[in-house]
Amino acid sequence: MVEPKLSSKSKELFERAKKVLPGGVNSPVRAFEPYPFFVNRAKGSRLYSVDGDSFIDYCMAYGALLLGHAYSEVVNAVEAQLRKGTLYGAPTALEIDLAELVQKASPCVEMLRLVNSGTEATMHAIRAARGFSGKKKIIKFEGCYHGAHDNVLVKAGSGATTFGSPTSPGIPEETTQNTIVIPYNNFQALEETIKRESHDVAAVIIEPVLGNAGLILPMKDYLRYLRKLTEEYGIILIFDEIITGFRLAVGGAQEYYNLKADMATLGKILGGGFTIAAFGGRKEIMQNMSPLGKVYQAGTFSGNPVSAIAGCTTLQALIRGKNEIYPKLEKNCTYLKKTLADLAVDYCVEAQVHSIASMFQVFFSSQPVVDYASAKLSDTKRFQAYFQELLRQGVFIPPSQFETCFVATAHTEEDLAHTINAFDKALHAASTIKRTD
Ligand SMILES: Cc1ncc(COP(=O)(O)O)c(C=O)c1O
Repeated sequence: MVEPKLSSKSKELFERAKKVLPGGVNSPVRAFEPYPFFVNRAKGSRLYSVDGDSFIDYCMAYGALLLGHAYSEVVNAVEAQLRKGTLYGAPTALEIDLAELVQKASPCVEMLRLVNSGTEATMHAIRAARGFSGKKKIIKFEGCYHGAHDNVLVKAGSGATTFGSPTSPGIPEETTQNTIVIPYNNFQALEETIKRESHDVAAVIIEPVLGNAGLILPMKDYLRYLRKLTEEYGIILIFDEIITGFRLAVGGAQEYYNLKADMATLGKILGGGFTIAAFGGRKEIMQNMSPLGKVYQAGTFSGNPVSAIAGCTTLQALIRGKNEIYPKLEKNCTYLKKTLADLAVDYCVEAQVHSIASMFQVFFSSQPVVDYASAKLSDTKRFQAYFQELLRQGVFIPPSQFETCFVATAHTEEDLAHTINAFDKALHAASTIKRTD
């Protein structure tokens, strides 16, 4: 159990960090009250803090680590590559190896480009779709996160269908006027918007399983209906598989739901803990990319050999072990979900517990959660009590109600047993918080 410490190195580091990094962090969600623990090292299922605490990790770098921390095969491959050089500014066979693995895995990907982050991948996928179609607008879904670039950092106003207004200062309204935001899982808004706007819409971009507003699953046939409509109206369908790619299955949500998008974006697991992402799709769209075509996209670090070897090693391990890996992940995740749901009943905490494959999350709400609006009804104070108690019990989950927890192959039976005990205490802690609505 993690006891509060009189002197904490994490606290000192946070004070130091705040003087040089806005909010003390390099990505906003990493900051939490009263201060985040700072990491010294990680291995397998565990993070070890500078204060000597250890945490069973269900954040797993926001879903980037399916095989756990410092996976030996990846570390060895990267070590060998480091001695051969880290960046060449000229092509390598490794980039082709990785591209071929992705092409084989992801149903819609006939050609792809390697980039450095998920943000870059979705930004360029949208540009590719616009370049190919000659149309300006895109449709996205409320609560879906596609990175921090101007076109997609848009929240919807009230009403079923709205033109986006920027979520962040610094984004010109002119940019987001081309982004239409509709609620997730709403068949009618989807149909009406596509019928009304199709002449102007280059692409629909969606997280097929919504993992950035907590965890929200697509309703039965919703993705199939989206595929049908986009096909019928000649709109490019982009599946943002940055979380779901290689997680729901080797072929991501497309394999899981037996659907083919026109384009997909991939990241996180793709790099095995290193910085790499990809966007790809139908050949006729991708062959417009420069230097073959006129749609420009470039990157100094794109396809760098260190990330490429980490990616190849990870994907090969997943492909090799897929028949054992995915069922086991799902079994462990279902067990965690079921236990959480049972404990919520035991402690009389109103909760909705969702899971799919190796993703899970609990919403502290009495209402079914099907979209962003219903997710927002959750009691975030209860979530904070649950999160803080888990931390005290040595279990780390993302510190927000509107994120998702991830199970990795590195989680052991002992980890699960410890986690169940921690869940018990955390649900009890949540039950002591008076509901805020
Ligand atoms: C679905 C999805 N798309 C895009 C991104 C952006 O990726 P990155 O943080 O690598 O820029 C994320 C990040 O969490 C994501 O979850």
